[in-house]
Amino acid sequence: MMLPELDDALRLRLAELCSVGWEIFERFDLEVRDKRFHPFVAAEYEKVLAALIEHRREGQRFLEWGSASGVIAIMADLLGYEAYGIELDASLVDTARDLAARFHSRATFITGSFVPAAYSFTPGQDERAWVGTGPSGYLELGRALDDFDVVFGFPWPGGESMMLDLMTRFGSSDALLLLHSVDNGVTAYRGAKSFKAAANRLPQR
Ligand SMILES: C[S@@+](CC[C@H](N)C(=O)[O-])C[C@H]1O[C@@H](n2cnc3c(N)ncnc32)[C@H](O)[C@@H]1O
Repeated sequence: MMLPELDDALRLRLAELCSVGWEIFERFDLEVRDKRFHPFVAAEYEKVLAALIEHRREGQRFLEWGSASGVIAIMADLLGYEAYGIELDASLVDTARDLAARFHSRATFITGSFVPAAYSFTPGQDERAWVGTGPSGYLELGRALDDFDVVFGFPWPGGESMMLDLMTRFGSSDALLLLHSVDNGVTAYRGAKSFKAAANRLPQR
């Protein structure tokens, strides 16, 4: 399928999506995060948008790990990716589906864990450990992690190595992994060698 033209109309729609996304996050911050810990913190949408524009090619399948309110997967869909999001919190999945309907987006959201069932990890004992556990979402999605050309994640500090390891073990060997961090914006890693090398450079926790 041809990529949609990045004309003024599309840019306006994307800008409106970012602004609605920020409103949703501000409300969530007041109504939920002010009362209890919740791992949903919004990435810098404008920086992620720039990365999605830079890396878009025809016929790419995109997955957002921990898709929360869905803004990033919806952006990807509007830009011409075949876009999916997996999120553990079912009420956020409802929010994402509503937002997709509002923006006439075909992005697909499912409730579950982005961690493949065959990956063993020990979730942190701390209640604030941000990687939650739950049934793996790939079965319901009908796709495995290596079916995706581009994967996006916004890990909490220290979560980068797990995401790189997931891609090394279960991702496609030539996939693109986009990781967002508060300090560095979006960093792009291409292919198994790059995931492994980056994971080895990180301090072991
Ligand atoms: C830091 S937020 C990022 C939200 C969104 N991707 C963004 O960048 O704006 C992390 C999200 O991952 C979700 N999450 C945590 N563990 C998960 C897991 N194992 N599977 C799926 N989602 C998870 C949280 O509920 C939260 O919404």
